[in-house]
Amino acid sequence: MSGFESDWLSLREPADRRARDRDLLTMAADHASTARGAVVDLGCGTGSTFRALDGLLAEGTPWIFVDDDAALLARAQALQAPSARARVRLHPADLAALDDGLFDTAAMVTASALFDLVSQRFIDAFADRMASRGLAVYAALTVDGRIAWDSPHPLDGEIVEAFTADQRRDKGFGPGLGGDAAARLDEAFLARGYTVRSAPSDWTLGADDLALQEAFHAGLAGPAGAAMGGKVGDWLRHRADAARAGARVRVGHRDMLALPPV
Ligand SMILES: C[S@@+](CC[C@H](N)C(=O)[O-])C[C@H]1O[C@@H](n2cnc3c(N)ncnc32)[C@H](O)[C@@H]1O
Repeated sequence: MSGFESDWLSLREPADRRARDRDLLTMAADHASTARGAVVDLGCGTGSTFRALDGLLAEGTPWIFVDDDAALLARAQALQAPSARARVRLHPADLAALDDGLFDTAAMVTASALFDLVSQRFIDAFADRMASRGLAVYAALTVDGRIAWDSPHPLDGEIVEAFTADQRRDKGFGPGLGGDAAARLDEAFLARGYTVRSAPSDWTLGADDLALQEAFHAGLAGPAGAAMGGKVGDWLRHRADAARAGARVRVGHRDMLALPPV
């Protein structure tokens, strides 16, 4: 059980869908359709990358969903159209200890909202593994540390600082890269001779995203909670009032498509 709630993933999926860079999504689909084989989705959650990408792929493309959270995998399966279930294999596993055979039938490896959790060591080993098999990687919605509010508050800096420190904790992969992960991914694949294209995929959350703004701000304030006590409640109230009044928050993410050397 990873601690990522199915409700949180459902809440963020429409914003993720809007934010994904359209050109990279299409290029990833073209590559996977030409390479033929399975799409292996690492840290699949309930299958949001499948829902964003599958319609652009060659018909019948097989998928392998990998996650260590059995409840999320079960939800991913429940959300599948019965016709898709036959070509989606669920693979419960810890990404930190994957069997190399998982990639035997792969045409491309995907992930979304995953790499901020991992360490530099994980990225290096992952890039080595992908390069040894000449596999393309489409990694979407990696947070890059930028957060900008229309309506600033004096505690913003302190809250973000506590959150950033928490991102560096070990989440099972070694010290977390947090907002540095997107740049490190680009560097790792460039260093292995890949053609790397990356683009911003920021969330811009406004009055139509009140529930997501509320959940995002609660998650952001969580690590500051113990140290700042009641001040966090004031900050959350300010954020909720501002959101209802139409203020937006922009949350930086990046998408990357790394294509292997030919
Ligand atoms: C932020 S969620 C993203 C889920 C999905 N890709 C999406 O975009 O909605 C991160 C996912 O990584 C999975 N995860 C985290 N650590 C993992 C590990 N060590 N092994 C396998 N899956 C892991 C979580 O269970 C969760 O589904």
